[in-house]
Amino acid sequence: MPVTTHFFPKGFKWGTATSAHQVEGHNTNNQWALWEQQDGRIVNGDVAGRACDWWRNCEGDFDRMLELGLNAHRLSLEWSRIEPTQGQFDSAALDRYRAMLLGLRHRGIEPMVTLHHFTNPIWLAEQGGWENEAVIAWFARYVRVVVDTLGDLCDLWCTINEPNVYAVLAYVAGAHPPGIQGAMPRSLAVLRHMLMAHAAAYQVLHERQVLARVGLAHHMRYFSPLRPNNPLDALVANFQDQVFNQSVITALTKGQWSLALRQGTSQSARGLRGTLDWIGLNYYTRQFTMFDISSRATLFGRVIEPAMLREAEIFGYRNPLQTEISDFNYGEIYPDGLWKLLQRLGRLEIPIYIAENGLPDADDDQRPAFLMQHLKPIWLGIQFCYDIMGYYHWSLTDNFEWSEGWRMKFGLYELDPATQQRILRPSGRLFADIVKSNSLNRAQAEKFAPHILPRLFPV
Ligand code: BGC
Repeated sequence: MPVTTHFFPKGFKWGTATSAHQVEGHNTNNQWALWEQQDGRIVNGDVAGRACDWWRNCEGDFDRMLELGLNAHRLSLEWSRIEPTQGQFDSAALDRYRAMLLGLRHRGIEPMVTLHHFTNPIWLAEQGGWENEAVIAWFARYVRVVVDTLGDLCDLWCTINEPNVYAVLAYVAGAHPPGIQGAMPRSLAVLRHMLMAHAAAYQVLHERQVLARVGLAHHMRYFSPLRPNNPLDALVANFQDQVFNQSVITALTKGQWSLALRQGTSQSARGLRGTLDWIGLNYYTRQFTMFDISSRATLFGRVIEPAMLREAEIFGYRNPLQTEISDFNYGEIYPDGLWKLLQRLGRLEIPIYIAENGLPDADDDQRPAFLMQHLKPIWLGIQFCYDIMGYYHWSLTDNFEWSEGWRMKFGLYELDPATQQRILRPSGRLFADIVKSNSLNRAQAEKFAPHILPRLFPV
């Protein structure tokens, strides 16, 4: 009998993920608010503005989560609201977050709370942001206030979102504030400080809350050599993997700096060991890389824009899996990469949450297949006894996509930021069906993504 249904375990967490600045609206006291005012920083001159209006009314979207049947949601707190002036905490902001968490709890939706997601209070940015080592103690103090005020409503904490992405976009690519390009040593120092702040927060959370479950959302990319048989391309792909993906894991599990992170510091990483009760995997697309002697800032690896892959036959590259390129050069859709990364994380023997996974796809012609193809390796990992606890889709509605502004649309719901009107996309209906049936099945593929049916459910 051919298999027609892949069931997920009872109690599996099905959720969506958001971050404060991208959805709340009117965040005026962080470094992004200033950045958005500078010419040319954001595509089309967009600003977050009212965003998805969550500060006023997140409850409408919480109802939508219920309509989809979700039992989990990952959201972040805005440090600049909670500590608008250094050392002074705003009880009204904390009250609003209490109301948000209660709103989720009342609907039976378990919150995962991220404590830092890309934004810094202006007072921190003015003192050097994450380059300044003092940030570690400042972050720990803020976390203490948060757990003391909100700890009765949440015990699943994600300390920092994607330290590696933060460090690279802000200090190598220059696309995020402070917009520095090519400063690899500074970027690595920032990454180190973020990992140390994570460990400090881990201690604080466990001191104040017996049942705290503390982890971090780690963005992992699958790096592939553009020319599969070229040893130099393979070397840089491996090196980038070590620096971007593996160094974070090694620091937080073994308490050791990788070769790259060891440069320029005499501080030990010993205190970082064992500071993950779970690990969050944020996975999107795969990245191709090729050796390029002039690309020093990116460790001699030239990142190949996905659009270039279409031209890549000149390098002998054939797309063997016939995978697709996502809109806007967002990368190559490559579910196999998720499987390979899950195998690596599975060896850590700690719980895994897929803390983000999604696609910019305004017309929703790719997202249904994307969703099913990425849930399949997750299901498979569970069959291999990896402790995969939940899946948080990025994102519930379209939202403010950082330097890409509003043009990249990741939502299960389409959102018009001007009218705040939301419309459920077909992928949203599919996700609701997956959640309701707690399974991936043939009927869903037949209805929403027939072209991948033979790959998902071979007969
Ligand atoms: C970030 C999100 C972002 C998403 C889509 C992730 O790396 O955590 O804030 O919106 O990617 O690009």
